[in-house]
Amino acid sequence: MSESFKLVVLASGTGTNLQAILDRLHGREGVEVVGVGSDRPGAKALERARAAGVETAVFPPAEYADRATRDAAMAEWIESRGADLVALAGYMQLLGGEFVARFRHRVINVHPALLPSFPGLDAIGQALEAGAEVTGVTVHFVDEGVDTGPVIVQREVAIPADRDRATLEEAVHAVEHELYPETIRMIARGMTS
Ligand code: GAR
Repeated sequence: MSESFKLVVLASGTGTNLQAILDRLHGREGVEVVGVGSDRPGAKALERARAAGVETAVFPPAEYADRATRDAAMAEWIESRGADLVALAGYMQLLGGEFVARFRHRVINVHPALLPSFPGLDAIGQALEAGAEVTGVTVHFVDEGVDTGPVIVQREVAIPADRDRATLEEAVHAVEHELYPETIRMIARGMTS
C-alpha cells in the first residue's frame, strides 16, 4: 500500500527551493526526491542534491541540436526515474509543447509573484517598480507559456513600507520555502491515498 510518491526537481540556480523540498519533504510521508535535473552543470542545486544523496543529471542546451531534442532526453530520464511529479524550482528554460503534453498536469512551478501579475524574470523587482503594495507566491501547473499555467495555490506577501528589496526578497523566499513543499505534499496525498 505504501508505494512512494516520486518527485523529480529541475533547477538552474542556487536551489534554495530544492533545499526546502529536501529538508521538509524528502524521505517523509512517502515522498522521495528521485532526481534533480539542470540545464547548468555548475548549478548549486546539483551540489545540494548530491549532498542529499539524490541522483543528478545535466542537460546543457549546447549539447543538443534543439530544444525538442533536449526536452526529449530529459523526458526519458524523468520517466526512467519513475517520477509521479516534476517540480520546477528556479528552472529558467522554457519547456516545449511536446514535453508539456507528455507530462500534462504532472509539472508544477513556483513563481515569486501573484500570477498573472509579474510573470517572467525578476518578478520581485517588477512588483517593486510597479508600486504594488502586495505581492506573493504562486504554485501553478506548467504549460507552454512563461508562468501561465493553471494556478494551484497562492499566498500573499505584503511589500514593506520602506520598499527595501532585500527585505522583500527574504519574505517572498520564506513563503516559497513553506508553500512549495506544502503544495507538493498535498498533491502527493491526493495521488497516493
Ligand atoms: C525562486 O524565487 C523561484 O520562485 C524563481 O526563481 C527563484 C529560484 O531560487 N522562479 C521563477 O522566477 C520562475 N519564473 P532558488 O534557485 O534559490 O530556488
